Amino acid sequence: MKKIIIAIDGFSSTGKSTIAKQLAKHLGYVYVDTGAMYRAVALFSMENGYINKESFDTQTLINALPDIRLQFVYNEQLGFAEMFLNDKNVENDIRTLEVSQYVSRIAEISEVRAKLVEQQQKMGQERGIVMDGRDIGTVVFPDAEVKIFMNSSAETRAQRRFEELTEKGQNVTYEDVLKNVEERDYIDTHREDSPLIIADDAVEIDNSKLDKNQQFQQVLKLVQHSM
Ligand code: DC
Repeated sequence: MKKIIIAIDGFSSTGKSTIAKQLAKHLGYVYVDTGAMYRAVALFSMENGYINKESFDTQTLINALPDIRLQFVYNEQLGFAEMFLNDKNVENDIRTLEVSQYVSRIAEISEVRAKLVEQQQKMGQERGIVMDGRDIGTVVFPDAEVKIFMNSSAETRAQRRFEELTEKGQNVTYEDVLKNVEERDYIDTHREDSPLIIADDAVEIDNSKLDKNQQFQQVLKLVQHSM
């Protein structure tokens, strides 16, 4: 059976990674969470003091880009690849609300995007990949055989993210999470370089009222049709 590229784009916390992981497992494909890469660059910028509440030194970050090495390392127990930043496992560190508060600003920088997009395109050279993000079907793989755009209301998404964060023991309020979801939606859709838009040939799925299995069956049908 021919190997294809499956691009999953959409707003934050729409369950992109859940469906992408299910598909990758079912098809024996590689799964790549491109948001993790932007988050790792945000973490690097925070740790080095390039970005904080008051300021963002974009030029210093751009100059330091060659020093940022990102790798996905497969964890058999978890069943997916974890993000490593300069040889350190940062899978948990990149999932905090603090990183979420800075990451959209990092993702606005064209030089950052160019570096990450190049790496993402290399990962898909052999096809047989499920990649999720914001610009996968439009910029990274405009020739992807399957393009899915996930959506659901900001409130539904904030509730999901709030439950995820509190389950991990993070001390956050629903209001803060909702505010962050809305802010990121705005920045992600309004930035100049590669804004979040629906590719002309993408299929939109609103999963506000679908359970995980219904959603998976719907997407699997699309995929099987393209193989
Ligand atoms: O999917 P996520 O919430 O982990 O992504 C974090 C941020 O990274 C998101 O606010 C926008 C940015 N991003 C992007 O600009 N392009 C991508 N392909 C993936 C993520």
